Amino acid sequence: MTPERLDIDAALPRMQALASSLWSPRARHHPGQLAWSAAYGEPAALDLGPVFITDGAWAWLESPGWLEVCGADPEAVRAVVDAALGECDGEVRTSTLETEDVVLAVLADVAFVEVESPWFTHHFIDLADLPDVALPEGYAVRAVREGEHEPRSAVHRAAWSATSLVTSAAYERLMATAPYRAATDHVVVTDEGEWVASCCVWLDEATGMALVEPVGCVDPHARRGLATAASVSALTAARELGATTGLVCPRGDDDYPAPALLYRGIGFEPGARTRTYRQRG
Ligand SMILES: CC(C)(COP(=O)(O)OP(=O)(O)OC[C@H]1O[C@@H](n2cnc3c(N)ncnc32)[C@H](O)[C@@H]1OP(=O)(O)O)[C@@H](O)C(=O)NCCC(=O)NCCS
Repeated sequence: MTPERLDIDAALPRMQALASSLWSPRARHHPGQLAWSAAYGEPAALDLGPVFITDGAWAWLESPGWLEVCGADPEAVRAVVDAALGECDGEVRTSTLETEDVVLAVLADVAFVEVESPWFTHHFIDLADLPDVALPEGYAVRAVREGEHEPRSAVHRAAWSATSLVTSAAYERLMATAPYRAATDHVVVTDEGEWVASCCVWLDEATGMALVEPVGCVDPHARRGLATAASVSALTAARELGATTGLVCPRGDDDYPAPALLYRGIGFEPGARTRTYRQRG
């Protein structure tokens, strides 16, 4: 079982297919998260590393010293992790969901140890329980349209940071990356036409899981329920397309509680959390 070594663009569809086929509330990876991680910035800026892949597992050196692992077969997981570590020089970190027993056992076998780090809690909602979209006066929410990558990337950057890697060219490429759909990427716009909040939802048709990633609202319009409205609206659109469950993965530690509060306000409930591990090479 010698893993193939591929670049991320070549590997992504197979990585997504495996993640989807292995998906459960105990698993870390969703096809939409992988699309976002692979395409949220321009390739030169992201500098993404190689993927080691077999039919049963993959390990991705997402950045120098950062590994992502997916698989449920211990031998396959060991093979891809060994192949990836073979290209690493020095310390490597990785993060898994605490319920991923097979990946955790392989990481322990190759001397990864848990370290303190910010962590994330997966949250779920039965989309039958979504509230209605509620907006204050002066705002409307709608889906992004084809060709709107420039204002869409701008509203993301304005909420996150001016130095964000989410450029217009990057967003254009993201919009061409499966399973992106403009129909589930929603923005809140003022009556004057200013884009002020956004939420992208990624529907995995095979599992019915609709992942929220990312959400933002620009500061001058904060705390008016706009990020909530964008999220509920995009999730409602995903439900109309067949999604049954919503998933979102906000920080779980105490340093940045706002997003988890936002999602719990919609009705999301916490599931498993991530843990971070380090191997010294
Ligand atoms: C977090 C963020 C999306 C909130 O946007 P928003 O439009 O202000 O959020 P809402 O008005 O819908 O807030 C809903 C709830 O979330 C929580 N919340 C939002 N911002 C908060 C803050 N700064 N501190 C504490 N709680 C906060 C509150 O519970 C709030 O309900 P309340 O106002 O009735 O108390 C926005 O601040 C942002 O874009 N931050 C940077 C990007 C980011 O972190 N995105 C989320 C992770 S993907």
